[in-house]
Amino acid sequence: MRILITGAAGFIGAATSAALLDRGDEVVGVDNLNDYYSVSLKQARLARLNGRKGFAFSQIDIADTKALDSAARGEFDAIIHLAAQAGVRYSIENPFAYEHSNLQGHLSVLELARRRKIAHLVYASSSSVYGANEKTPFAESDRTDAPVSFYGATKKANEAMSCAYARLYSTPTTGLRFFTVYGPWGRPDMAYLIFTEKMLKGEAIDIFNEGRMGRDFTYIDDIVAGVLAALAHPPGPSDNFHRVYNLGNDKPEELMRLVSLLETELGIEAKKNFIGMQKGDVERTWADISKARTDLGYDPKTSLAEGIEATIAWRKGLKTPLY
Ligand SMILES: NC(=O)c1ccc[n+]([C@@H]2O[C@H](COP(=O)([O-])OP(=O)(O)OC[C@H]3O[C@@H](n4cnc5c(N)ncnc54)[C@H](O)[C@@H]3O)[C@@H](O)[C@H]2O)c1
Repeated sequence: MRILITGAAGFIGAATSAALLDRGDEVVGVDNLNDYYSVSLKQARLARLNGRKGFAFSQIDIADTKALDSAARGEFDAIIHLAAQAGVRYSIENPFAYEHSNLQGHLSVLELARRRKIAHLVYASSSSVYGANEKTPFAESDRTDAPVSFYGATKKANEAMSCAYARLYSTPTTGLRFFTVYGPWGRPDMAYLIFTEKMLKGEAIDIFNEGRMGRDFTYIDDIVAGVLAALAHPPGPSDNFHRVYNLGNDKPEELMRLVSLLETELGIEAKKNFIGMQKGDVERTWADISKARTDLGYDPKTSLAEGIEATIAWRKGLKTPLY
C-alpha cells in the first residue's frame, strides 16, 4: 500500500510510519515540525525513518491546502491523519493553535481525501470527546456533546466534520478515540515524561486532584496495532461510510500507581506536591473497547508495568534533550 501520514514526526505518527515500513508499505509523511515541544525530539524520530526504503517526508503545514496537495504527489491507498495540536492544558493557553491545526487542518485533509477519492481515511480523535461523561467505561454510544476542554471540542468537531464528509462524498472514514497513549519516543508534555524528567532532576512533581485521578493508559505498540487493524476495515454504506472506535486498554490505573512504577524503574523516590484539579482535566478515563475487539480484532496486550519499564529504558539511553 502507499499511505499518506500526517503528523509523521509526532509520537504516534512516527511509530505508525515505522510499522507500515516494516511490513513493506510505502509511506509519505508530512509534518510542520512546530515547536509546541522539542523540535529535536521530532527530528530524532524522523531520523529513524529517513533513509528507510519506501519513506519520503515533506515539512508542510496541513492547513495550507496547496502545500498539502503538492506534498501528496501521486496516488494513495489511504490517509492516516494524526497531525493535530494535542494537549488539554495548552488549549486553555492558546486555543487558536487548535483552531488552526485541528479545524482548518482537518478540513484540509478531508478535502484532499474527497478530491483524490481516497479509499480510506483514518483519523485521530480522542478520549477527551467524552468530557463530562461520568458513566464508565466510556462506550462509543455514550453522549459526547459536553466537552470540558477546547481540545476535546475540536476533536468532537473532527468527528462531526468527518461524518458529514463521509455521507456527502462516500469517503470511507474511521475516527479513533485514543486513550492516554504512552511509551518510548513519547510526548514530553504528558505526565509520565514530565514526572520522569523532574524526578531525574530531584524536583518535586505536581500530583493533580490530590492523586485521585485514573487513566486508561495505552501502550504505543497496542495503539499502532489498532491503527493498522482499523486501516484494514474501511466502513461501507451500511455505516454511512463513517465509524468511530475507542482505542484504549480497558484497564484504568490510578495516577499514584504510575508514580510508584516510575519510582521503581528510576530508583528514585519522587518528591510529591499534592495540588487541586487542573482546569479542563477529567478525573477518570476508561475505554470500553468491545466494539474495536469485535470489529477489528483489537487486543491490547501491554501492562502499565511492562510499558513503563520499556519507556524508562528508552529514556535512560536517550541522547536527544526532551525539553
Ligand atoms: N498521545 C495521546 O495520548 C493521544 C490521545 C488522544 C488523541 N491523540 C491524538 O493523536 C494524534 C497524534 O498524537 P501524538 O501524541 O502523536 O501527538 P504529537 O504532537 O507527538 O504529534 C502530532 C504531530 O502533528 C504535527 N502537527 C501539528 N499541527 C500541524 C500542522 N498544522 N501541520 C502539519 N503538522 C502538524 C506536530 O508537529 C506533531 O509532530 C493527534 O491527533 C492527537 O490529538 C493523542
